[in-house]
Amino acid sequence: MNKPVRVTITGAAGQIGYQLAFRIASGQMLGVNQPIILQLLEITPALSALNGVSMELEDCAFPTLKKIIATDDANEAFDQCDFGFLVGAMPRGPGMERSDLLEANAKIFTHQGLAINNNANKNVKILVVGNPANTNALIASSNAPDIDPKNFTAMTRLDHNRAKSYLAKKLGVQSNEIQNMIIWGNHSATQYPDISHVTCDDQRVLDAVSLEWIESDFIPTVQQRGAEIIKARGASSAASAASAAIDHMRDWSLGTSDKSWVSMAVPSDGSYGISPGIIFSFPVICKDGNFEIVKDLKINEFSKDRILITESELREERSAIESLL
Ligand code: NAD
Ligand code: LMR
Repeated sequence: MNKPVRVTITGAAGQIGYQLAFRIASGQMLGVNQPIILQLLEITPALSALNGVSMELEDCAFPTLKKIIATDDANEAFDQCDFGFLVGAMPRGPGMERSDLLEANAKIFTHQGLAINNNANKNVKILVVGNPANTNALIASSNAPDIDPKNFTAMTRLDHNRAKSYLAKKLGVQSNEIQNMIIWGNHSATQYPDISHVTCDDQRVLDAVSLEWIESDFIPTVQQRGAEIIKARGASSAASAASAAIDHMRDWSLGTSDKSWVSMAVPSDGSYGISPGIIFSFPVICKDGNFEIVKDLKINEFSKDRILITESELREERSAIESLL
């Protein structure tokens, strides 16, 4: 058995947190030889519900779960944290865009960025799930000046998984046969799910589907999937979001496969002409606990236009919260 790692989950009594805590505690993120200390954060009125989550975690008797800390104090929750899932935030309801949450949720990420700065390990890996995820990650990172901005990422893995699964269904194959999907940009309706580089069984998928299908079916379906789920469930995605969060953190820590890259929203380094200063989803490969943006892919005119739209939205979101940075 390895030395225990400390995993913080904010909003741990919420819908996503309830899924995430059990899967991480049981070893589904880092494997069954990695002991876990769970540090669960909630707001004070939700502490009783959080206590219920802790009791259920104990009742699972997971061999990997060494200790549970349940608290409403962000400093305690991020103490020596190695992995931070920033989930706790207000979700959108029907008819809202994720950016409508910016004002309500921004304060949370300012406060938690500071708590991470003052308490977490300097090599902590942070994944922001709470919406609008990209810009919340930027706020948290800006408030943690002692931690490398590359340690702050936001989640577009759910969009990546949705895009793979939808395309696999269209082609009548399993989603693991779809390689090199890309989600560019914001976790919002402007995101650009790009199949230009996707292969299936070593064949280019672009040759197997029509441009018409890509434009009028595939792209809008992936962009609007979150809203469709809210319409169907009356609440936003939870189990699939937790699953994607585990995929993101597992690949970042343990590495991506040789065959395919994944999508992660990470600080832009200017690749593909994207302005530095925003957290943008790129294709990345992960190795030895680090990620690298996949460079020098050929981007056609169709893709360039769409990448510019989502970049411009992220620059606008940044301007709206500039005072918090
Ligand atoms: P939820 O309302 O079920 O749970 C949120 C929890 O966060 C609640 O228990 C609440 O008490 C807690 N919370 C609120 N403020 C907090 C704070 N300051 N500190 C700690 N905890 C706090 O919501 P949910 O369905 O779990 O969704 C959480 C967030 O994740 C939402 O913003 C949602 O839009 C977002 N989301 C993102 C993705 C993605 O792909 N990036 C996917 C699904 C949901
Ligand atoms: C999703 O994509 O399912 C989440 O971001 C929730 C939402 O508001 O759509």
